[in-house]
Amino acid sequence: MDRLIIRGGVPLRGKVEAGGAKNAALPALVASLLTEESIRLHRVPQLGDVKTIIGLLDHLGVSVERGDRDTLSLRADGIGQCEAPYHLVKTMRASVLVLGPLAARFGRARVSLPGGCAIGPRPINLHLAALEKMGATISLDGGYVEAKAPRLRGARITFDGQTVTGTENVMMAATLADGVTVLENAACEPEVADLAALLNRMGARIEGAGTPTISIEGVQHLHGAEHEVIPDRVETGTFMVAAAMTGGDVTINRCLPGHLEAITEKLRETGVFVEETDSSIRVWGDGQVQGVNIRTHPYPGFATDMQAQFMALLSIAQGSSVITETVFENRFMHVNELLRMGADIKVIGTTAFVHGVPMLSGAPVMATDLRASASLVLAGLAAKGTTTVSRVYHLDRGYESIERKLQSLGAGIERVTE
Ligand code: EPU
Repeated sequence: MDRLIIRGGVPLRGKVEAGGAKNAALPALVASLLTEESIRLHRVPQLGDVKTIIGLLDHLGVSVERGDRDTLSLRADGIGQCEAPYHLVKTMRASVLVLGPLAARFGRARVSLPGGCAIGPRPINLHLAALEKMGATISLDGGYVEAKAPRLRGARITFDGQTVTGTENVMMAATLADGVTVLENAACEPEVADLAALLNRMGARIEGAGTPTISIEGVQHLHGAEHEVIPDRVETGTFMVAAAMTGGDVTINRCLPGHLEAITEKLRETGVFVEETDSSIRVWGDGQVQGVNIRTHPYPGFATDMQAQFMALLSIAQGSSVITETVFENRFMHVNELLRMGADIKVIGTTAFVHGVPMLSGAPVMATDLRASASLVLAGLAAKGTTTVSRVYHLDRGYESIERKLQSLGAGIERVTE
């Protein structure tokens, strides 16, 4: 298993490019199931989770061809079966995204229930209730959920809570349903809007994606299309925090600053300088930051996917910070590892009280999820001494060549493969 060895204390300086967004690429790849024609996607990041979803699509019978650099072509003209088995779903919850498209195009889908995961129970009841409202018969059996419907029909659906992949799943299903579907209290994340842009290129009729009300007029067929995945706002935000924590000066190019407003605002509140153009963000500072309070929210609020990275930053801030996680029940797994590096953090329920310390010290650490691992890398970059981050496969699920990108900014980081 790979480890990252980080020699901390080097201010990061230079330019780095954002990759394509993991959470936009995953549903875009799945959208290929909705048509027998070819879908060509650009800016698909090379990530563990992308490999997993391609493995699942391949299992279903989608042919996947890799083009130049970050281009993939997918063609779902030979779907052999509509079942997503446990061994392919258990490693990644987003696999449940195949449920809606398969049920819509083939009238039947059987997907292993994803079960619990490191950041909480994460049920899919909202996905299922919406598909049921569209006329699907849902049954649970042997750890699998089965959705059946000769043809889904349009419906008015008010989500009981905001769900990103739930919105995406149902939006994809509704493109091929009979009649109009209106989704209320839909997730507003940019990744939902990006998926809608691809679906509309495929011939779907979707309006309002990116707002809480999405209207989808079902069509008989979707066709082939070409699409570029949006840049990864969480990767971008992670580099922003890296610059802030090390007192460096980093410009992230090919990103969309408009997707990071809550993050930018909080960073400025800590005393860090942030400058933006249409497609780049520069972050610099002297490494001295002030404590701030954070509450995670669905977009456009402060993203839960940036909470762990900010906790690393605030652990070396002057003064105290209160971090409240409202999206997931159990997303503080990084706390115990940060404590081992000298941080002073107390957790009560879903709130973390962070008392800034002058300096973290390097230590061997490991984490059990992607963003928690990212926060440990950031802590290691700012810490005195050497930090070893184990279980790097978590990072590889969502960050493309993280050590290479950090090395290009001057970081003392290397991967050791055993
Ligand atoms: N929820 C339910 N029932 C449902 C669906 C969700 O109760 O049917 C709850 C969840 O348990 C959670 C909340 O609703 O408490 C929000 O969950 P959501 O469904 O929005 O999360 P998700 O779609 O499974 C996506 C991202 C996550 C990101 C969250 C929140 C993808 C592939 N994943 O997950 O990304 O944290 O939205 O923004 O888009 C990551 O990239 O590290 C990551 C975990």
